[in-house]
Amino acid sequence: MMNRRNFIRSTALGIGGVSLYAAGNFSGLVQARAASTDTDPFRRTFFVPPVEEGKRDGNQVNFDLNIAPGISNFIGDLSTPTMGINGAYLGPVLRAKRGDRVSFTVKNSLTEKTTLHWHGFVLPARMDGGPHQVISPGETWNPEFDLIQPGATYWYHAHTHELTGKQVYHGLAGLFIVDDDVNLNSGLPVDYGVDDVPVIIQDRKFNEDGTFQYLGSMMDRMQGMKGDTILVNGVVTPTFKANRPLLRLRLLNGSNARIYNLAFHDRRPFIVMAGDGGFLSRPDKIQTLRLAPGERAEILVDMSNGSDAILINSPIKESSGRDSNAMMGNMMRMMDEPDKAFSIMKIEAPTSVERIKFIRPPSYEFTADWANAVPANKRRFQLEMQMGPGMMMSTMPGGSPFSINGDSMDMDVINLRVKSNTFEIWEISNDSMLPHPFHIHNTQFKILARSNRAITAAETGLKDTVLVYPREKVRLLIPFLAYSDPDRPYMYHCHILEHEDGGMMGQFTVEA
Ligand code: C2O
Ligand code: CU
Ligand code: CU
Repeated sequence: MMNRRNFIRSTALGIGGVSLYAAGNFSGLVQARAASTDTDPFRRTFFVPPVEEGKRDGNQVNFDLNIAPGISNFIGDLSTPTMGINGAYLGPVLRAKRGDRVSFTVKNSLTEKTTLHWHGFVLPARMDGGPHQVISPGETWNPEFDLIQPGATYWYHAHTHELTGKQVYHGLAGLFIVDDDVNLNSGLPVDYGVDDVPVIIQDRKFNEDGTFQYLGSMMDRMQGMKGDTILVNGVVTPTFKANRPLLRLRLLNGSNARIYNLAFHDRRPFIVMAGDGGFLSRPDKIQTLRLAPGERAEILVDMSNGSDAILINSPIKESSGRDSNAMMGNMMRMMDEPDKAFSIMKIEAPTSVERIKFIRPPSYEFTADWANAVPANKRRFQLEMQMGPGMMMSTMPGGSPFSINGDSMDMDVINLRVKSNTFEIWEISNDSMLPHPFHIHNTQFKILARSNRAITAAETGLKDTVLVYPREKVRLLIPFLAYSDPDRPYMYHCHILEHEDGGMMGQFTVEA
């Protein structure tokens, strides 16, 4: 088992050459690795993922996707076997417009089964790409659905039964940008790769030979797989050269398990304007942004003062909640290490500095339907993980340490059935020692309340994933739209992928 003290010591190296973060305690995980070979941890060039707009015929757009093994180079001259979609690692940024009907030819060129899930989308269950829509090696899957939701930054990723963690870790994920008129007419930055920039944040661990290290220890299974090296769009702590004074970053936490507390090294404020499902009800100027696995956020960053900005993970000095006690705090620190600072990427300021016009992002108004909603059902979900001896027992064949309401994921069990065209209230309570990002398929919901802390600005829009802290309850108002299918389920689960694969997932149908 990993000894935390040693781990911290071994990564608490200086950050040769780069002077930043006056607190003096900048023990970058990544710098530790980079410092040994080169003094500039940000020497790699930012990679802008290619955009795929498909073949368009009116409102019909077809995308050709090929899921295949690849070889990538992340560190030194080492080769890393990876998986990708139309490339060696990750996939293209898919892009279409609200109102389009999108269809896909998804070919599985791997030697193992896989699936491709459209995360954040409202769509028929058989198009969802969850664990029941298996694509066998050599086979092709042809889903299609209508883009009925607001413009936003969605994503797609493998969702294979008990293999999601491994396949996403190796690269099966990508962004899916949906445009709409509100977004396009907002005056916000829209030059892709220039001032509208995708930022997929992931952490990885490498073996000496360059191969990815996945699930090396019991801790990796319990905490979820966390790495010591940060990749942005598949490049280790890169530098983005800004040519515009105002940048829009589309952030995706595409990590298996790591929760980030994002900030800039100089504490410059930024505007958070969109979340999982589009613009926020209450956009705000903030200095730190919590992003859990599966969550997205769009932020506006002001580079007009001409000085570079380093995106960092900022240490969190907060308790795990109002009712936490000392033991809980200690467990949290042992398990989650929320207090480590490290850097993610550097943004080089433009050389010619212009003044920027302040842009007020559009805000999302929840309609009266939401305010007047009479929930058809109220349900409770209890997230649990067994620790200690119970954990050892439950990791034996047939048992699982991860459950929701006492049940672990069973492909043959529909855990609950909801009615189409209704709202429901779901209350998620976390009775474990770790925070869990809870994700629901086929919907975008509203967070009504958190028991132990305030709802943040970044959580005020439509959401599909919500972080539930230990000992906390969150209440969600969830619309289920018209799509129904009595047989094929959608999933709800923890988006820490090792927890999902370990059984912290359930299935629901939407029935007419
Ligand atoms: Cu992003 Cu069920 O997953
Ligand atoms: Cu999903
Ligand atoms: Cu979890």
